[in-house]
Amino acid sequence: MGDLKQTLASALDGARQRSLGLLDPLSEEDQLAQHSPLMSPLVWDLAHVGHYEELWLLRAVARTQPIDPAHDDIYDAFKHVRNERAKLAVLGPAEARRHISMVRGRVFDVLEKVELDPAVPLLNDGFVYGMVAQHEHQHDETMLATLQLMASPYPHVAVPPPPGRPLPEREVLVPGGPFVMGTDLEPFAYDNERPAHTVDVDDFSIDTAPVTNGEYLAFVEAGGYDDPRLWSDAGWGHRLENDLEAPQFWARQGGGTWSVKRYGQQIDLPLDEPVQHVCWYEADAYARFAGKRLPTEAEWEKAATGASAPGGWGVSPRQGRREPPTTVANLGQRHFGPAPVGAYPDGASRYGAEQMLGDVWEWTSSDFTAYPGFTTFPYKEYSEVFYGSDYKVLRGGSWATSPLVARTTFRNWDYPIRRQIFAGFRCARDV
Ligand code: AVJ
Ligand code: FE
Repeated sequence: MGDLKQTLASALDGARQRSLGLLDPLSEEDQLAQHSPLMSPLVWDLAHVGHYEELWLLRAVARTQPIDPAHDDIYDAFKHVRNERAKLAVLGPAEARRHISMVRGRVFDVLEKVELDPAVPLLNDGFVYGMVAQHEHQHDETMLATLQLMASPYPHVAVPPPPGRPLPEREVLVPGGPFVMGTDLEPFAYDNERPAHTVDVDDFSIDTAPVTNGEYLAFVEAGGYDDPRLWSDAGWGHRLENDLEAPQFWARQGGGTWSVKRYGQQIDLPLDEPVQHVCWYEADAYARFAGKRLPTEAEWEKAATGASAPGGWGVSPRQGRREPPTTVANLGQRHFGPAPVGAYPDGASRYGAEQMLGDVWEWTSSDFTAYPGFTTFPYKEYSEVFYGSDYKVLRGGSWATSPLVARTTFRNWDYPIRRQIFAGFRCARDV
């Protein structure tokens, strides 16, 4: 196999080791259970990544016949909502593993023979292989959100993160002017990141780091959740209807201190870590409390310039596999939580903003919409069907995001009420 094919094969291998490793500590019951109405049973995610791989790396690339036509219904995310997937005839834990490893074996046979013809967009630079490896990693992050929602403790190994440090400045200035948003060059970029286009932004300031638990606690203690003036109308309605009082997984202890439940363990609230598990409405209200606002996604992307290697991390068809040094960003579930603010001076962007990649996804003020000149590639259910005002954009990836996925142009999106994802935020303001 050539260098590119080796690189693609190792990206697929890496994703699979991660998926299997995540489910390894779980009983069969816990793999089959619906741990939350918001999430799929974990065995569904596992077999779904195998089905997606069959669709793209066998059926699309090699024109094979469906292995089991029933899977086109069961594992199609648009046919059944997450909350109903436990009732489907899903493959059990052992069957799912056998099935996806059989698929993987056939995929490697095809990869050995296929010509990665640059004239075929799906195959150019091995795009479709990168797409499938990213897809599996994205589901691994989703599985980590499910595991955090599970009632029983999740056994896992977490390396302690590097220490934080006091930041030289709380905000950095980003001078106005045109910059290039999105990309034409990153080989594995999704369609929603394309095409590269020039965007002009005014001068603005952006926080050097994401808002911490300690800072967010000040908002909670100041009665931020009881002051409708700080909330959007929709946000206030949502806060009332759902009795929101603090981020998800926080609990008030006796004596006025707070703890947080993380993978089944109750720990003291780490005041210097970025806040996570807040919805867009909470982020928006906090920003008003702080006299600031959320950044637009254009501002976010400009401020993040230089925070990842050009071409992204993980796998590059031209430069092989390049893991980011662990001193640059908190990615890939190494620490099983955010690192303290100031932990990654070497990961600063050109403008001095830190921890833009990794730690927590960052809510922006922007709706998820198409860039000018967007064309769907290779299928409209990845991005196009989600465009509109229902979803808000998140940027930067979290501690649970693979380096293969984390890049300054990557766009994530969710409903403004969602909190189970590893989402926090930083603020910006006009200057
Ligand atoms: C980009 C994270 C919103 O999980 O719904 C997974 C990624 N797309 N399978 C999602 C995705 C198809 C997607 N997000
Ligand atoms: Fe999927």
